[in-house]
Amino acid sequence: MKNITVIGAGTMGNGIAHVFAQNGFAVSLCDVSKEFLDKALSTISKNLDRQVSKGAITADVKESTLKNISLHTALSDAVKNTELVIEAATENIKLKKEIFIELDLLAPASAILATNTSSISITSIAAQTKRRDKVIGMHFFNPVPVMKLVEIIRGFSTSDEVTKTVMSLSQKLGKTPVEVNDYPGFVSNRVLMPMINEAIRTLHEGVAGVEEIDTVMKLGLAHPMGPLQLADFIGLDVCLNIMNVLQEGFGNPQYAPCPLLSNMVMAGNLGVKTGKGFYQYTAGSKDLVVAEYFRK
Ligand code: CAA
Repeated sequence: MKNITVIGAGTMGNGIAHVFAQNGFAVSLCDVSKEFLDKALSTISKNLDRQVSKGAITADVKESTLKNISLHTALSDAVKNTELVIEAATENIKLKKEIFIELDLLAPASAILATNTSSISITSIAAQTKRRDKVIGMHFFNPVPVMKLVEIIRGFSTSDEVTKTVMSLSQKLGKTPVEVNDYPGFVSNRVLMPMINEAIRTLHEGVAGVEEIDTVMKLGLAHPMGPLQLADFIGLDVCLNIMNVLQEGFGNPQYAPCPLLSNMVMAGNLGVKTGKGFYQYTAGSKDLVVAEYFRK
């Protein structure tokens, strides 16, 4: 496999394009506007600079990685000769279904169609196409160039052959693939999101403050980030959305999102991307400052 298409140039899409291009694949990166694509390429370039300055890659590798990426605003151009499409558009079920209907029409009949969804049923996405056996979940983790896991999610009709191809492809990227079945939250978010939700409940009930909760989990359980900082990093809207998927999917009140999480999302305090969540963020600063409304 040589030609890959990535749909969506946001954080996940540009990370996925970066990793494939660095490993010698020709990547067609596609988004709705030239502005989003230019921004993604500049982010990839900065992340490659970071790898060069740490001695992880050479300047030549940086150059060849950037050369392996072509930018497209027309889906038909982006998928013309593709062997694998990875969709990493906004986490919206209607949008993803529309994209898969188009992909099924435009991409070569032999192409595998993967989605980087963190919560939407692969089986329901596959049902939009006439190639249900070739639709699969490839769930990458942020930051994509750093995180080793790819959660490979088999839809109800995904074939053994497609699963094998995608597993071995992930290994070629230097990642560790893990195969899981298609149930709400898969494995990663079924385990992670209730933990984050419980941390928010712990804060909401006044058991402890933001820093205290995160410190317990960082120093006591060796998590690289505490759950509240991680929620900010992922985006509180994404966390809320995934809790809703778990609650609907399992019909169990144990998955009800904490009202504080819902309130923060309604208020637009979504974490790093809006500059404020459990912490507040200033561009260029690495200091972790608790948001003023949570200070004692
Ligand atoms: N591109 C390339 N390299 C990067 C990078 C990027 N975007 N971001 C960080 N790095 C590299 C740094 O250069 C550094 O490299 P060295 O170890 O060689 O020095 C390394 O990663 C660590 O980075 P930093 O020193 O800047 O910062 P850190 O030590 O605090 O680590 C972190 C940052 C890797 C993000 C770490 O805090 C971490 O692992 N956090 C948890 C991340 C996590 O859980 N991600 C999953 C979120 S859930 C998800 O994505 C899916 C979902 O469905 C919700």
